[in-house]
Amino acid sequence: MKIAPSVLAADFLCLGEQLQKVEAAGADLIHLDIMDGIFVPNLSIGFPVVESIRRGTSLPLDVHLMIKHPLRYAQRFCDAGAWGITFHIECADDIDETIEAIRKGGARPALSLRPSTPAERLLPYLSKVDMVLVMAVEPGFGGQKFMPEMLDRIRWLKKMKPDLPVEVDGGINVRTVRDCAAAGADICVSGSKVFRAEDIRAAVLELKSE
Ligand code: DX5
Ligand code: ZN
Repeated sequence: MKIAPSVLAADFLCLGEQLQKVEAAGADLIHLDIMDGIFVPNLSIGFPVVESIRRGTSLPLDVHLMIKHPLRYAQRFCDAGAWGITFHIECADDIDETIEAIRKGGARPALSLRPSTPAERLLPYLSKVDMVLVMAVEPGFGGQKFMPEMLDRIRWLKKMKPDLPVEVDGGINVRTVRDCAAAGADICVSGSKVFRAEDIRAAVLELKSE
């Protein structure tokens, strides 16, 4: 399983050191949760931190926009060094235009959806994006419980489009990462289980071994 540690749960006082640790342990991507306090009831990090993280790791930056207006900021996240940019199908901007803007900016576009949003809404876009991010918790906060019903969503996506990478976000631990692997997921995001672990390196290795 590919693992994308989410810095939402990191200790920002020693972020550089923690990024080095997950990279040395073999993490595949660095997941960055961007929240605007409107699309989700929480705020997180913005451009200055993303730019610093870009210099603090050689891993690809997997940017997850939980914001109402992703189109407005797509180019700036591309310029800040995003490798991939995931935005939500429930956002207020035109989906096709946003996919196009991300691609034009040089990053890989991906779509995500809240657990309560019907997966069928993704159908018109499955051949236009480079990845789907399945939320296994309500977006906005780390440390929540994995919703097992989302495993069916992973299986459905893999049936609809076997070659499209599926990433899973929220509530990932040693048990749920195994279930996601069995359902066909390609990448799992993990915040608290990696950065709140006593041994960050061991936590990454354990999740990766699935
Ligand atoms: C939630 C974020 C997640 C979060 C995951 O809105 O999208 O990326 O950091 O945290 P854990 O792994 O603690 O559920
Ligand atoms: Zn996320």
